[in-house]
Amino acid sequence: MRILLLGTAAGGGFPQWNCRAPTSLKAWQGDPAAPHRTQASIAVSRDGMAWTLINASPDLRAQIMANRALWPAEGLRHSPIADVVLTGGEIDFITGLLSLREGHQFTLHGTAETLDTIDANPIFGALPAERVPRRAITLDVPFEVAGGVTVTAFDVAGKVPLYLEGAGNDLTGRKGTTIGLEITDGGHRVLFVPGCAAIDEALRQRLDGADLLLFDGTLWQDDEMIVLGASGKTGQRMGHVSMAGPQGTMARLADLSIGQRIFIHINTTNPALVDGTSERAAATAAGWHVPVDGEEIHL
Ligand code: MLT
Ligand code: MN
Repeated sequence: MRILLLGTAAGGGFPQWNCRAPTSLKAWQGDPAAPHRTQASIAVSRDGMAWTLINASPDLRAQIMANRALWPAEGLRHSPIADVVLTGGEIDFITGLLSLREGHQFTLHGTAETLDTIDANPIFGALPAERVPRRAITLDVPFEVAGGVTVTAFDVAGKVPLYLEGAGNDLTGRKGTTIGLEITDGGHRVLFVPGCAAIDEALRQRLDGADLLLFDGTLWQDDEMIVLGASGKTGQRMGHVSMAGPQGTMARLADLSIGQRIFIHINTTNPALVDGTSERAAATAAGWHVPVDGEEIHL
């Protein structure tokens, strides 16, 4: 199986357009220790011909341009993108769909919650269901996507999308609001969890034994944005568990057997984004890789 890391940053990208945190400043200055990153999305394929996009970020067009495997390859109009699977309805997961509107046929997979959110917004009528059929995901029931890949979705602790907060919704959302994916080619297990508010025992068991884990790396520590003065929100308030700390991802997953551990959806304020920081060194020492866009994993 091939896994392309199209984008590795959280919503807003790195550097985020309006951010001058120390991390972002390094990126604005072109410091090689802080390469720019687009918003999180991956593409997977077993045969390398048909590809499944996991989440459609606002940077999708640039991501396609940067990854030859996703270029049109035959006839007058073509794209290797045959399926898109959404792990939620966040802006950074769905707005790239609008870049896939020029007549191409593909299948759109999401939970009923996510598909309802999309179809409640008339702008997504630019992707009519006759051309872009919606397939509702049932949690824990495997489904096939193009290119010889099987996907199983599972519920994870999360949050309703930002734009649905306060609309009479419970902040954490109903089951199916935020999901993780187990992606397999029959021989290998890839776990993709770009947003996760808490790591419980069920999730730990699900992740154990994975060949590759791509996991929520939004913040280094829960109060990071408050300490910086960048925002009044904690990571928890945003629906993200942090990398560090006793309840953080590195500690909570330390004892599991996982082939490769990669952080994805990394926020512009997270010091681990920058090469040479003590936070990066700590992540590396804990067995975690902080990727850049365009990396490809072969399993
Ligand atoms: C998040 O991951 O918390 C959201 O993408 C935030 C946002 O919509 O900007
Ligand atoms: Mn996000």
